[in-house]
Amino acid sequence: MNSNITIALSKGRILDDTLPLLAAAGIVPEEDLRKSRKLIFGTNRDNVKLVVLRATDVPTYVQHGVADLGVAGKDVLMEHGSEGLYEPLDLRIATCRLMTAAIKGVEPKSGRIKVATKFVNIAKRYYASRGIQADIIKLYGGMELAPLMGLADEIVDIVDTGNTLKANGLEARDLICHISSRLIANSASMKMKHTMIQPIVDLIAKAVD
Ligand code: ATP
Ligand code: PRP
Repeated sequence: MNSNITIALSKGRILDDTLPLLAAAGIVPEEDLRKSRKLIFGTNRDNVKLVVLRATDVPTYVQHGVADLGVAGKDVLMEHGSEGLYEPLDLRIATCRLMTAAIKGVEPKSGRIKVATKFVNIAKRYYASRGIQADIIKLYGGMELAPLMGLADEIVDIVDTGNTLKANGLEARDLICHISSRLIANSASMKMKHTMIQPIVDLIAKAVD
């Protein structure tokens, strides 16, 4: 195992809130991540580099050990599964809720329902746990459109302000869980590189508090 640390960051809305936490741990990128087209960045620390990925790819890089640490939404982690991953910290950023939603005022259907979502695994587990038979339809975005177009009876999606649901004539129904972004670690790295990783985790934890 080498003595470098690679940290996988989610690009998009999590990134801005992640950088101050890394700075608190003494890790500052050599250039502005948001302005560059590069994907790998050096930092002020010779042995620490950052990679900027699509949010859904972060657990994959960390699980395979090519990144030692990562930052990802709990929704993404629940969908991906936690094999080979530790989750040492709740970073309390990008907080939102994972909910079911449907067209406002429409009575829930009895019997088998159609559910559109990008969180296929979470949705399967959720409806199974409620004893509801659900056909899950995988989408990659814009889930709100599915009930309006008759593709699905319900959606499973992220809700924050509720504005997106409201703008599309939908309403939130059931809370599946509260979501925030987490620091994750490759389980082998966490053991083998403990002396390098633990101080980073401790400083980020302090910054979160
Ligand atoms: P991709 O563009 O790669 O498909 P994405 O659209 O889910 O991913 P973001 O929108 O940047 O990526 O969201 C990243 C994470 O931020 C999500 O996994 C979730 O945890 C959280 N999140 C998503 N939407 C919101 C929101 N409206 N408010 C707060 N947090 C959110
Ligand atoms: C996310 C999510 C909802 C919206 C919820 O979408 O998928 O559509 O935010 O936020 P609100 O309750 O505050 O309206 P995002 O903006 O990431 O766009 P996306 O559909 O491209 O993922």
